[in-house]
Amino acid sequence: MSAEPVVLVTGAGRGLGRAIGEVFQAHGYRVVASDYDATLLRDRDGVDGYTTAQLDVTDAESIAGVARFIAAEYGRLDVVVNNAGIIRRAPAKDFSEADWNAVIATNLNSPFFLMQAVGKWWIETGKSKAPENSRLKLVNIASLLSFQGGITVPAYAASKHGIAGVTKALSNEWAKERINVNAIAPGYIATENTKALREDPVRNKAILDRIPEGRWGAAEDIAGGCVFLASGDSDYLNGAVLNIDGGWLGR
Ligand code: NAI
Repeated sequence: MSAEPVVLVTGAGRGLGRAIGEVFQAHGYRVVASDYDATLLRDRDGVDGYTTAQLDVTDAESIAGVARFIAAEYGRLDVVVNNAGIIRRAPAKDFSEADWNAVIATNLNSPFFLMQAVGKWWIETGKSKAPENSRLKLVNIASLLSFQGGITVPAYAASKHGIAGVTKALSNEWAKERINVNAIAPGYIATENTKALREDPVRNKAILDRIPEGRWGAAEDIAGGCVFLASGDSDYLNGAVLNIDGGWLGR
């Protein structure tokens, strides 16, 4: 069995997922960094503490196999961070069925089925082999749009409201199984995805004016929250959606 705790991060090739992997590695975890775009993981190949895995979270077969693969390879799986996500923008009257389905499949269906696969493995096999009192920690990356509607992103808002609900639903069933299911709702984070917003002086000012902290979040702010939700310090936290948003939602 791996001496280090093992964390699986989806969408770890860039952005938040990449930072989440790096911060877990710095905390002594073995990181299984997965992404559907393997080219984004290449520079992690062979890096100490890392295993890279091509995983398309919308592929049911790969999801079913991933817990088995990790358990066979390392004898344990301690944490899953459901981070992979996509966004599609269009006014509601023009929003295509294809875009709707793609966003819901990636942001809502996939985290559920990955948690189902890993939860099933833990309940039927993993828990009995794990040290007494150890826990499986499931962390979902939600959004401010788990609480707000946003503009021209209806599928994204639906998916992120949905993942907040699934987080609570699974935590109700699985707290007694020594599984903690929680989510993080990141605020405005400076990643490649938000570069255009930051470079637009009008939007950038409007966003910064509303954030009590007065700055964009860093990917590491979110990664730190994931490490907390993975740690023993959060054992009594279940079904929570933790806002890490510089105060945005409190405003
Ligand atoms: P990003 O687009 O920079 O990175 C997403 C990663 O997920 C990419 O590496 C991509 O290849 C991967 N991915 C996409 N579909 C996949 C699939 N089917 N299977 C496997 N991997 C897949 O996005 P970012 O900004 O890092 O966002 C990560 C998560 O954080 C998403 O769930 C997003 O909704 C959420 N989020 C981001 C915020 C931000 O300000 N950047 C704010 C709130 C939430």
